[in-house]
Amino acid sequence: MPSVLQDKNIVLGVTGSIACYKALDLTSKLAQQGASVDVILTTDAARFVTPLAFRSLTHRPVVTDMFDTHSELAVEHVALARRAEILAIAPATAHTLARLAQGLADDALTATALATEAPLLLAPAMDAHMWDHPATQHNMSLLRDRGAVVVGPGAGRLASGLVGMGRLAEPTEILGHIQAVLGRNSDLAGRTIVISAGGTREPIDPVRVITNRSSGKMGYALAEAARDRGARVILVSTVQGLDDPPAVEMVRVETAEQMKQAVLNATSQADALIMAAAVADYRPASVAPSKVKKSSNQWALDLEKTDDILAQATNPLVRIGFAAESNDLLQNARAKVTEKNLDLIVANDVTAEGSGFGADTNKVLLIHPNNQVDDLPLMSKPEVAHQVLDRVAAILQRKTHPEPQDHPCRHP
Ligand code: CTP
Repeated sequence: MPSVLQDKNIVLGVTGSIACYKALDLTSKLAQQGASVDVILTTDAARFVTPLAFRSLTHRPVVTDMFDTHSELAVEHVALARRAEILAIAPATAHTLARLAQGLADDALTATALATEAPLLLAPAMDAHMWDHPATQHNMSLLRDRGAVVVGPGAGRLASGLVGMGRLAEPTEILGHIQAVLGRNSDLAGRTIVISAGGTREPIDPVRVITNRSSGKMGYALAEAARDRGARVILVSTVQGLDDPPAVEMVRVETAEQMKQAVLNATSQADALIMAAAVADYRPASVAPSKVKKSSNQWALDLEKTDDILAQATNPLVRIGFAAESNDLLQNARAKVTEKNLDLIVANDVTAEGSGFGADTNKVLLIHPNNQVDDLPLMSKPEVAHQVLDRVAAILQRKTHPEPQDHPCRHP
């Protein structure tokens, strides 16, 4: 499945802030994923970064002046506004936010913002005092109320030397939110999907844990793919080494018991649950209150069984499990479909080349309750994620809009 950004028409507004340099990185990332990017630079932004830099990345004219006779906007000043599938402004200064809130159209960017029907995404960047000012906060609430998606700003050290709110969100964060906006009308729009990721960690004492080799990459790929297909995604994660996927609701947990509580809570309102996490089957029966010292030659741990989360989370319409096996893959995975009454299980042999823990690829079998097996070739985890979500979308569709023959007509 191509990126949600492929062939999309994105208008990127860049306004005068020292954070303009990050807009180049964002532009590069958008172009790399196949988007067609039209950049509008305000006069002040053009003092920080050159139109040539953006043009070199987008291979398209950069708009700097509404009355430039060489510019597309001079010919038909609403051309970009019409073509845009999203108008993203990054960085958005306090001054530009004020102009947008007022509905001014005094330059190419604000005229485009007023003329377009495309969704508006704003990534503010400014000094902390400017951000905190009631005027800016009032403008932000006006813009939010009108439907603008606001990304950031983040807290940290600012160019002024102040430490506070005002840092432009990272390009990857803005990119993820652009993808979420562009995916809004896709096949999972209006669905809530809960995804679990990573290996649980069961404490033995304050220092040690029992865990497993799960990297969480598959769960994270599922979360991003579901977001890009329009779903509201709740990611229940134990993962420490991966960045949070943007525009995804994160619930952080550590143990199987915490994951159970978080999944049961999140699935009370969800359409689908995908349990990609490797949940501990056993945990220490008691946790030592202080570090266990190596005073004896042997140490036997007393373990007790954890609850099966997937078996207990019966609320969602669609329930998908994972089966990581080292032998008898098909037989073991089929048994789990039946035992846990699943709509699908994603089975992989962790000992196979390219399918091990932490790999960026996976070779999986998708096993349906009617014993149909889709034997997929080795592919990247994002590709596997889309394959799984194709099935999730189809099962949801089937369960919510059954074919007429499934329900005999009462009024012939
Ligand atoms: N699972 C779960 N709760 C558990 C254990 C597993 O929800 N306590 C879920 C996993 O997230 C996965 C599926 O059940 O989606 C299968 O997990 P797996 O560990 O392969 O199987 P188990 O049922 O635990 O059986 P076994 O370990 O004996 O293979």
